Amino acid sequence: MGKPVLLVTRQFPEAVEARAARDYDARLNTKDQLYGPAEIIRLSAGADAILCASTEKLDAATIAALPASVKVIGTFSVGLDHVDLPAAKARGLPVCNTPDVLSVATAEISMGLILAAARRFGEGERMVRAGRWIGWKATELLGAQITGKRLGIFGMGRIGRELAKMARGFSMEIHYRNRTRLDPALEQGAIFHGSDESFLPVCDVLSLNAPGNEATRKWLNAARIALLPKGAVVVNTGRGMVVDDAALIAALRSGHVAFAGLDVFDGEPKLNPAYLGLDNAVLLPHLGSATVETRNAMGFLALDGIDAILAGRNPPNRVV
Ligand code: 8YV
Repeated sequence: MGKPVLLVTRQFPEAVEARAARDYDARLNTKDQLYGPAEIIRLSAGADAILCASTEKLDAATIAALPASVKVIGTFSVGLDHVDLPAAKARGLPVCNTPDVLSVATAEISMGLILAAARRFGEGERMVRAGRWIGWKATELLGAQITGKRLGIFGMGRIGRELAKMARGFSMEIHYRNRTRLDPALEQGAIFHGSDESFLPVCDVLSLNAPGNEATRKWLNAARIALLPKGAVVVNTGRGMVVDDAALIAALRSGHVAFAGLDVFDGEPKLNPAYLGLDNAVLLPHLGSATVETRNAMGFLALDGIDAILAGRNPPNRVV
């Protein structure tokens, strides 16, 4: 019997592709082209499984049109906003994702953005590279000190909790807003807020670590921004759709939000062009999970899920 066929929709790290090619008749995307729905449907003809990323939109129509041979989808992401899960469930098509293995790497980017935004790394870098640095000045590029400040985490899941752990190293007081209050063992002294009205006014720094879904779409809007302390720092490594860009841009212009650090954008890789003109925003190209260790681990976990489903087992990273 031949190997099962796996459609691999993006170019993934070498070690991940090597394992895919060892265990599957792998249809690799060596040019890393972006596949739209029609290509995904066409290229999955006869495939047993699909390994995709969050760059592939698997909406209800695409899932319904996948060939019957496809028995599992593994996504190289913890986020599931690109997959219509009810449609997959209705079709009886299991979906596996990559939780846990990217939590530390993503929290590092949250912490890094907090420091980069509040301490003005972007402006400093641009000044040095442009040859505009003419010498030390007591009043130049003064930022906001982070140590000892209050950090509000919106979405206290695995990534949020890793960020809390790192922020404790900066003596930050941790507050969080979550659907439910965590067990004290997971809270580790972090302060739960049951309403936006009690949460947002204590956020000297607000970190968005929630998934993108209908409940979080444009959660950070003008009304909520107004509840933040003046001069707050906002960072987002979750999903761009959680932010109302026009509202955040207005707040960065007025200074109500003093600094922002953004790794994800609504409609990325396109972003609201107004961000580009804002010196008080640090902008990254979705680097959250971008370490060698993490990207390998994500690929292996997604493949573990696919392997298990095809072998008739139920893997822990199965979400549908
Ligand atoms: C992924 C992410 O690498 O896991 C997620 O949800 O946002 C990233 O870390 C990216 O989405 C590609 O799938």
